[in-house]
Amino acid sequence: MTQKSNKIDIDVLLANASKDNRKKTLGLFDLSILGIGAIIGTGILVLTGIVAATDAGPGVVYSFLIAALASGLIGLCYSELTTSIPNSGSAYVYAWASIGQTVAFFAGWTLLGVYITTTATVANGWSGYVHSFLAEFGWNIPQALLTSPFNGGIINLPAVIMIFLVTLILTRGTSESKQLNNVLVLVKIAIIVLFVIVGFSDIDQSNWKPFLPFGMSGVFAGASTVFFAFLGFDPLATSAEEVKNVQKTLPRAIMISLVVATLMYVLVSLVMTGFIPYGRLNVSEAMSFVLLEKGHNIAAQFVSAGAILGIVAVVLAFIYASSNVMMSMSRGGFLPKELAVLNNKTGSPNKALWLIGLITAICAGLLDIKNLATFANVGSLCVFFLISLMVILLRRQRPDLKRPFRVPFGYTIPILSMIVCAFLLFNLPLSAYLNYAGWLVIGLLIYMFYSVKHVDLEQSIEPSEPVDNDLEADPE
Ligand code: ALA
Repeated sequence: MTQKSNKIDIDVLLANASKDNRKKTLGLFDLSILGIGAIIGTGILVLTGIVAATDAGPGVVYSFLIAALASGLIGLCYSELTTSIPNSGSAYVYAWASIGQTVAFFAGWTLLGVYITTTATVANGWSGYVHSFLAEFGWNIPQALLTSPFNGGIINLPAVIMIFLVTLILTRGTSESKQLNNVLVLVKIAIIVLFVIVGFSDIDQSNWKPFLPFGMSGVFAGASTVFFAFLGFDPLATSAEEVKNVQKTLPRAIMISLVVATLMYVLVSLVMTGFIPYGRLNVSEAMSFVLLEKGHNIAAQFVSAGAILGIVAVVLAFIYASSNVMMSMSRGGFLPKELAVLNNKTGSPNKALWLIGLITAICAGLLDIKNLATFANVGSLCVFFLISLMVILLRRQRPDLKRPFRVPFGYTIPILSMIVCAFLLFNLPLSAYLNYAGWLVIGLLIYMFYSVKHVDLEQSIEPSEPVDNDLEADPE
């Protein structure tokens, strides 16, 4: 153990992973569905029209492709680290093993902030769809109960209620939430396919001219924004401890979910910008809006209803990921150990889940959606930069480490990935950096007054009793 450098011994992590008694219930299909469930959500449903109208025109399809390329590079780097050190702490654990405990804490703290703000942003977008869907039936939710105090309201109540319900479902265990997730993802894919099929015949190619009204600079600015639509592949890394045959399953699931999402985003952006002139797409429910414009009223209602169901899957995946990171940080003593205890019946970290649910609900109910979304982008790009850097560091420090998946072409892909992250970060607003700095200051206080005194390089959490009749368990 390398006490002096404040790093954790990778062999301790690997030993802990092998004696972990969480159920290994997730196979390639479940994990890919979990990834697709986490990725496709508010981004495509809300951002596509806005970015087409204000940044990129029909060229928004290129913005999606650039963001997809960035996510693919990062996804490859994630895969190498996750399969070498299968641990639900993700970036936090890799940093602890390769750099030291201070960077580890801030990587974990940033991940927690990113997952919480992403969930809160998505829940806000969801609440908008609920409002417009119910309004069609004459049920109007008062504006004050849909809007944060920062925007003249009282609270975003539907978002708060949805977050608590999803947390409740997650406390019942992964198998139950997995089944719900599978259904929600199928609904989500179905409405996107419906949109593309219904819309295809109405495409008017003259709407694609000019294709790049704002030039390539608009396309790049759009890429930084629509990058949000790809967030969700990384939480897969946090489920490493529950994955069967993690070495093969995880990299494949990350790539499958990215490819499916990219295909959906490209088709939706082409159809949407072919439907009506891009300048008219600056609305938050662009998919149902363009269908209504062309008189496809029933399809539009289906799309809204499907969006309401489908977006729940994103919230499900991100709350699950946040609780995994919190649990892992607690195991390392950075946060109180009680948060790492698994419930005997369900095998879920229920205390961590309720704490995450509470903080996320407060953010979704009371904070401004734009600040939440840009915080999520800044925080995740910083973590992704670090992930790419750590692939290089770990290769140099531990060339002997068993790497079931290795990013090809030497250091080229990690370096490209760092450049792309830096480029996307460059396009984000100053306010997002200030919010992120505020979050880091809170983290610093926790780190100085709690974590430093409790860090546990042995990860000596008492494992909970084995869960009931674990027929599905398949220890690696
Ligand atoms: N990628 C997720 C979404 O767009 C966060 O909702």
